[in-house]
Amino acid sequence: MATLWVWITGSLVAIVCFLLFFYVYSTWNYGIFKKMGVNGPQPSFLFGNHMVFAKHGFKKADMMLWKEYGDVFGYFTGRTPSIVISDTEILQEILVKQFNNFTDRAVLRGFSGAMNENLSAQQGKVWKSSRSILSPTFTTGKLRKMDPLIKEAADSLVLHIKKRINECNEVDFAWLFGCYTLDVIASTAFGIKVDSQRDPNDKFVRMASKILAIKVNSPYLTLAFVLPILMRPLSKLFNITVLDKEATEFFTNEILKVLNSSEPSIQKDYVDFIHLMMEAHNEDTDYTDGRRGLTSKEIIANCLLFFFAGYETTAASLSFLAYNLALNPDIQQKMYEEIVSVLGEEEPGYDNTGKLQYMEMCIHETMRMYPASPRTDRICVRETEVKGLKIPEGMQIAVPIYILHHNEKLWQDPEKFDPERFSAENKAKIKPCQFMPFGFGPRICIGKRLAITEMKIALAKLLREFILVKCDKTKIPPKELQTGLIKPEDMWLKVQLRSSEESD
Ligand code: HEM
Repeated sequence: MATLWVWITGSLVAIVCFLLFFYVYSTWNYGIFKKMGVNGPQPSFLFGNHMVFAKHGFKKADMMLWKEYGDVFGYFTGRTPSIVISDTEILQEILVKQFNNFTDRAVLRGFSGAMNENLSAQQGKVWKSSRSILSPTFTTGKLRKMDPLIKEAADSLVLHIKKRINECNEVDFAWLFGCYTLDVIASTAFGIKVDSQRDPNDKFVRMASKILAIKVNSPYLTLAFVLPILMRPLSKLFNITVLDKEATEFFTNEILKVLNSSEPSIQKDYVDFIHLMMEAHNEDTDYTDGRRGLTSKEIIANCLLFFFAGYETTAASLSFLAYNLALNPDIQQKMYEEIVSVLGEEEPGYDNTGKLQYMEMCIHETMRMYPASPRTDRICVRETEVKGLKIPEGMQIAVPIYILHHNEKLWQDPEKFDPERFSAENKAKIKPCQFMPFGFGPRICIGKRLAITEMKIALAKLLREFILVKCDKTKIPPKELQTGLIKPEDMWLKVQLRSSEESD
């Protein structure tokens, strides 16, 4: 009997000690912002302030907290502290001038399976080496060679509308642009021809929607954010990742098929990323000489990343742009006139769409209002003082792109669609870090020029044929989906054939 009591008492003491230790461990950091002189919401045990973000998403939560606490505030995801900075001068220091102390990005390390070793997640010298290998993939010469792939997808977009227009002249552009950018990324990243507009049941299309169906407020993701110390080993043990298993396997096999094929690279009249990366294929991971190649794991991870980073972001930006044009017919007309006068009968491509300056102003203004990524981030890799703020090593810095784009102190009447903000004259007045839909500094989006070219080619082809008009189904303002991105739930607009309009 006595031994039983000893055992029960011992177990109770052990449990109490463990809970005490766990409580102290979980809340240990909670005083850090006070020490730094940084304001912020009170964290609660275990979750920190994560539930505000899980409930409202980054865009809304950032905005709410910024209104309450100002340009620099701190919050906790579980026990991990992050500072949200929307002061453009501090951001310039972090993103550009002192970049060497803020080289890394905060990622859910260990939860992304095949995506773990991609450029966006890589750190320090490994990232630097990969970035210098991958950057040439996005140069002017290479993008020019991707023209045929983009044009083919854009032609399919126009054809799809033309075919439908007699039955129904209302189109969900969120869906249609999703198909277009999926076709582009399938061919430019994977070297695969897909016509998702004609065949929504194509396996590539089905798997794409599966792999991207990650809910920000899913219980798994919440636990991964809040308790990474517990979830990382469990995820490894049970092989659980944030990505859908079947879809990841499908894409990995597609990439491996190309990697293992004997087809010599770059012998076609166009190029795709996978073949360009194969030129740098090298399983050696020794960094002693600085530069090295890409392992097969990295090639797979980067292909998946290009897909993730380039598909929905570009589709969302195009959808919001179509919305802005439908609601502002004068601006749409001006854009059309520019297309006619600059391109004439020429096929739109990388080179000549570069001359469509008014179109670029409209793209920028749309991406200011609706930046597909509401925020980006960096990690402080060594203690650094920035404009009087002492940032400790390991601190996550959130860069709230949406706030920067909607700050009334930086933009007059920020909710108004006004492309003139980006005219040659006005553009010069925009401060560094005030506008950054693609991020800023050495870690800026690598696919920026591809995305802009893709948008311009689609718009030039579309507006030559059609006029976009709002209809009863158009949601004003657009209703956004609750994901990590800013993207519309749908974007119904009416299309009118330009030739019939002009002959009226
Ligand atoms: C409208 C479309 C797009 C938007 C709004 C967008 C936005 C962004 C943003 C905000 C970042 C973070 C940059 C930073 O931290 O400073 C980023 C990074 C990145 N994007 Fe994009 N992106 C788009 C299209 C693309 C495309 C088409 C690709 C590739 C095919 C791509 C590939 C990447 C990669 C690889 C990174 C990580 C770069 C690094 O860490 O070195 N993105 N993007």
